[in-house]
Amino acid sequence: RRPVVIDCDPGVDDAIALLLAFASPELDVRGVTTVAGNVGLDRATRNAGHVLDLAGAPTGLPLVAGLAGPADGSPRVPDEPMHGPGGLGGLPVPAAPRGPVPGHAVDWLAERALAEPGVLTLVALGPLSNVAALFDRAPEAAAALREIVVMGGAARAQGNVTPAAEFNFHADPEAAHRVLTSGATVRVVGLDVTRAALFPRAAAERLAALPGAAGVAGALLCGFAARYEERYGVAAVPVHDAVAVAAVTHPGLLGWESGTAAVECAGELTRGALVADLLRPERSRDVDIALRVDADGFTSLLAGRLAGYGGG
Ligand code: BDR
Ligand code: CA
Repeated sequence: RRPVVIDCDPGVDDAIALLLAFASPELDVRGVTTVAGNVGLDRATRNAGHVLDLAGAPTGLPLVAGLAGPADGSPRVPDEPMHGPGGLGGLPVPAAPRGPVPGHAVDWLAERALAEPGVLTLVALGPLSNVAALFDRAPEAAAALREIVVMGGAARAQGNVTPAAEFNFHADPEAAHRVLTSGATVRVVGLDVTRAALFPRAAAERLAALPGAAGVAGALLCGFAARYEERYGVAAVPVHDAVAVAAVTHPGLLGWESGTAAVECAGELTRGALVADLLRPERSRDVDIALRVDADGFTSLLAGRLAGYGGG
């Protein structure tokens, strides 16, 4: 089983990604860290605690809060239109689900990475503020990660916040640039594939009819799909962060190309854009970017594993 830490900002698709991770025998989830993104840090941490409860994650599993926004103090722009009230589509979250352990996510990540060099895979599902801070504050720890799988960016597709930029990279472009140009082993799962692997609303409705956490996941996905349909007119929804988890459990579902990647931090119209060079033969090849996906394979994997929470 592959040891992973999940850094997230729940967020409906983060919640689904966490549920998928805890239903995946391929993974050994060692901890969950939170970052501001779809919602503020406190809410993201509370939502993550609730999802860990729903998933039946071990009670001793570390949940650690991280950064409340980009390092330069610029304001975080929430994504409530897609994720709904509170970030989980209005799902009632108890005032006190399991809480975070004391300490800061960046320190905790540094300690864990150094304790087991070359072992931990970091799956980053939100803005890259925590991950970039790890590179800045503890570069030897960042270098000790086995790899970093990032949900973010759009190499060839259009962005979802601006025509050029995807939400996670747009929320903290400097952090995304820091991570992608670090020389570390990074795999990028962006809108190129997440928008090509839409989860059908009908499949969400089938899950919603199941008991337990499967039904909650189905209800979350139904609301997510309805908001997506209102915007884009399609009765299906991208479950971005879950594709990144599937990239770890089932890498063969995705088709990868290697190259160099950077993130535009200055452009007036292009701030937050992923600039991937996959063409020039003289390029270095330090980043793998997913450009193709087996959409049916992903959908049936996700539907099957979520159904497992309802005894399905
Ligand atoms: C990414 O942005 C957030 O809205 C989602 O949780 C996902 O991580 C998709 O652009
Ligand atoms: Ca996310």
